[in-house]
Amino acid sequence: MSDNNDWISRHAEKTLTRLLPRVRAAMGPMDAKYDQVWEGFEQRLREHWERLFRVLLQLYGWQYDFFYHLEQILVMAARRWADRPEYLKELDWQRQADPQWFQSQEMVGGVLYVDLFSRNLAGLHDHISYFKTMGLTYLHLMPLFAVPHGNSDGGYAVSDYRAINADIGTMEELSALARILHDNGISLVLDFVLNHTSDEHIWARRARGGDVDFQEYYLMFDDRTLPDQYQQHLRDIFPDSRRGCFTLDPESGKWVWTTFNSFQWDLNYANPLVFRAMAEEMLFLANQGVQVLRLDAVAFTWKRLGTNCENLPEAHMLVEAFNAVAKIAAPSLLFKSEAIVHPDEVIRYIHPDKCQLSYNPLLMALLWEALATREVRLLNSAMWKRARIHPECAWVNYLRCHDDIGWTFDDQDAMELGINAHDHRQFLNRFYTGEFPGSFARGLPFQYNPDTGDRRISGTLASLAGLEAALEQEDAALIEAAVGRINLLRSIMLSAGGIPLIYLGDEWGMLNDYTYLSDPAKAGDSRWVHRARQRWEARGDLTDAEVLEWRFFNEMTGLIRLRKQLPALRNGNMEVIDTGNIHVFGFIREFENQKLLIVNNFSETPQSIPQEQLNAVTSATRFTDRITETTISNGNGLRLEGYQFAWLECSA
Ligand code: GLC
Ligand code: GLC
Repeated sequence: MSDNNDWISRHAEKTLTRLLPRVRAAMGPMDAKYDQVWEGFEQRLREHWERLFRVLLQLYGWQYDFFYHLEQILVMAARRWADRPEYLKELDWQRQADPQWFQSQEMVGGVLYVDLFSRNLAGLHDHISYFKTMGLTYLHLMPLFAVPHGNSDGGYAVSDYRAINADIGTMEELSALARILHDNGISLVLDFVLNHTSDEHIWARRARGGDVDFQEYYLMFDDRTLPDQYQQHLRDIFPDSRRGCFTLDPESGKWVWTTFNSFQWDLNYANPLVFRAMAEEMLFLANQGVQVLRLDAVAFTWKRLGTNCENLPEAHMLVEAFNAVAKIAAPSLLFKSEAIVHPDEVIRYIHPDKCQLSYNPLLMALLWEALATREVRLLNSAMWKRARIHPECAWVNYLRCHDDIGWTFDDQDAMELGINAHDHRQFLNRFYTGEFPGSFARGLPFQYNPDTGDRRISGTLASLAGLEAALEQEDAALIEAAVGRINLLRSIMLSAGGIPLIYLGDEWGMLNDYTYLSDPAKAGDSRWVHRARQRWEARGDLTDAEVLEWRFFNEMTGLIRLRKQLPALRNGNMEVIDTGNIHVFGFIREFENQKLLIVNNFSETPQSIPQEQLNAVTSATRFTDRITETTISNGNGLRLEGYQFAWLECSA
C-alpha cells in the first residue's frame, strides 16, 4: 500500500511538473493582474493535486489519452477560476481563514420552490426580509433550471445547467440574487443534478440524432443483452412509473439507462469527457454565487455489471474528484450529499474531501418512527451509534423535504431491540397512510412495489403529525396534540447536532394539498401533495395570536432565536443519553462553559426521568429551561407533560 502511495506521490509530482507550463500557456498572455490570479490557483492546485490525480488515475488512468484529459480538466478549472467574480474570490479567502464557519449555531436553513413560493426570482427579492425574520442563513432553491415541459420530476430533469426555466427568471437574475442574499448573510444553495440530464439536454439530443461521441455521454445499448444482465441486480426507484432501469429511445433505437424517470438519462461517468463537462457546469454554478451544491442522487453515478450500481467505490472517487476541482477553482464551495440509502452508506459520503454536509435521513425517519410508536428505543440506539461524523462536517437535520419518507434504518439495529424490520416498516407505512386503526396521520403511499411490498410515504409535516385529521374533526384536544407533535419534532431539529433545514410552508403548518391530482403531469407522483403553493393570503393572520399559523410561525422563530443564543448548540457534539424512560429522547449538547440537557417526550401522557439517570449525566444543582426560563432544582427527577420538550441549561 505504502509503496503504491509513494509511486502515486512521485508520479503526481512528475505529471504536475509537465502539466503546469501547458496549463499556464493555455491561459493566454500574462499581465500583472493575471499573474496574481495564477498564483492563488497554482498554490491550491499544488495542495489538492495529489488527491485529484490519485482518483482520476483510478477512474481514467487506463485510457490511452489520460494525460490529455488531465490537461483539459486543469485548463478548464484555471479558466473558471480566472472568471470567478471578485466578491466570490474575497469570500474564498474569508472561508479559507474560517473553514468551519458552517458549524455555528447561527446557521439555519430553508428550502423552497421558487415558483410555488414567489412565482419567480424577481418575486423572491421581496421576501428577503421574511427570510431574515425567520433567521435563515442558508437558502436552498429547488431546481430552477430549464427543463422539459410537463413532467420534469420537479425540476430534476435538467435540459441546460446554465439556463433558468424561463417562467422563473434568468441566470443574470439568479446571480444578482445570490449576491444580495450573501450581503444579507444568507448562503445560496442549489442542486447539482449530476447523475442524469433530461432527454432534451443538447448532449442527449445529439446522442439521439446518432452522434456516437455524444452517445458515449450516456449508457446506450443496441439491444437488451446487457440491460437484462445489469437489471438482475438493480432496484426500481420509481416502480409506479416504470419497471426496470432502461428505456427504449425510439429515435436512436437504443436502450438508455434511466435510473429514475424515462426522461432522465443517466450520464456515463466512465467517460472522462463527462467528468470534465460536468465539473465545468459545477464551476459555472459556483461562479454564479452558489455557496453549497446539493449532490443529487449521488449514490447512483457509477455502474458495474453484477452489482446494484449504488454506492460503488468509483461513485465516491467521483465525489472526491469534484471536491478537489472545487477546492482548486472555487474554494469556498461546499457539497451536501443527498444519499438516501442505508445509514452505513450515508456516512461514507461525509468527509472534508467529499461532502462536508449531508442530509440526515436516519434522524428524520426515526423521529417519525418514534412519533408513531411513542417509543424512542430505535431512535436512541441508532443515534447513539450513528450520529457521530467527521468533526469538520455537519449533518443537515430536517423533518420533511420535497421527497418521500423511506424507512432507511438498519435491520440489525432493529433486531437487537427485538423489532422485526420488515414488519415494522409495514406497520409504519400503514400508520402514516392512516390505515392503522387509531393513527393520527394523513399521508399518502408513494411508489408501491408489488414485488417487494415496499412503499414510501408522502405528506406534509402537519398532515403527518395529525393536524389535518384534527382540524377536520374540529377537536380542540386533537389539535393541541398535533401541535405538540409538530413542536416536539421542531425542537429536536433545532437542537440536535447539525444545521436545521426548514421546508418552507412548514413554518405555518402547511397541510397536504390534493390539487395535484387534477394535473396529469403530477397526478402519478404523490410527492406533489407536499409541494404546495405558499399561502401568502394567510399572512395577514400572522398578527392574530388566536390562529394556528401565528402560533407556528412565532413559536418557530422564537426557538430559532433561542438556538442562535446558545453556543452549546454549535455543531460538533451530541451525546445521546439513556433517560431511563422509553418515551423520552434525551441528549447533551455542550460547548465551553455551557451544557444543555435536551429532553423530549414522545408520548401524549406525562413522563418522568428518574434521578439516577440525571445523576449519570450531570452534577448540576439546578436546571434552567431556556424555553420557558423557569428554574428547576436537580434532585427529584424530571417530569415532562405529554409531548413536552425542554432545553435545560445545567448550573453548578
Ligand atoms: C433526488 C431528488 C428527487 C428526484 C431524484 C432524481 O433523489 O431528491 O426528488 O426524483 O433525485 O433526480
Ligand atoms: C430513492 C433514492 C433517492 C431519491 C428518492 C426519491 O430513495 O435513493 O436518491 O431521492 O428515491 O424518491
